[in-house]
Amino acid sequence: MAGRTELTTLETVQESRSWLFTVRDRYGEAEEAILVPCEDGVEGWINRCMHEPQRLDVGRGVAMRDDEIICPRHGSMYDACSGACDNGEAAGTRLVGVDVTVEDGRVFLTDSIYQFDHEGGLEDDGEADENESDEDGDGGPSSTSHISF
Ligand code: FES
Repeated sequence: MAGRTELTTLETVQESRSWLFTVRDRYGEAEEAILVPCEDGVEGWINRCMHEPQRLDVGRGVAMRDDEIICPRHGSMYDACSGACDNGEAAGTRLVGVDVTVEDGRVFLTDSIYQFDHEGGLEDDGEADENESDEDGDGGPSSTSHISF
């Protein structure tokens, strides 16, 4: 029931075409979510393809074409408004929705399960989010590898 949290503005989502944020589910697990424009305004989805645990927005914004979200791994396309996919590897699936409401051009998170945590993605470097084997301390910024050539 909780309240609602203001996320951003409709204009921002429409201009940037996607907006990445992090939520926590009822178990306190953090998940990334995205806002994308759709004809009614904005829709919210968990930032994960339903075929494999692949982020749709890998930190550079969601790739979209004709109001469809394109999975960067195998190219399945999801309807930005319904979350449904009818093509490619993810055919027959639907993205996990995150309830948002638009009011006076402002976008609010109004989901009964997901609560706002912070703007942007999870702190990790964006490969698999599924492994919970990390002991979730707090601190260790899992160091982005220093690549030296
Ligand atoms: S991981 Fe998205 S279509 Fe395969």
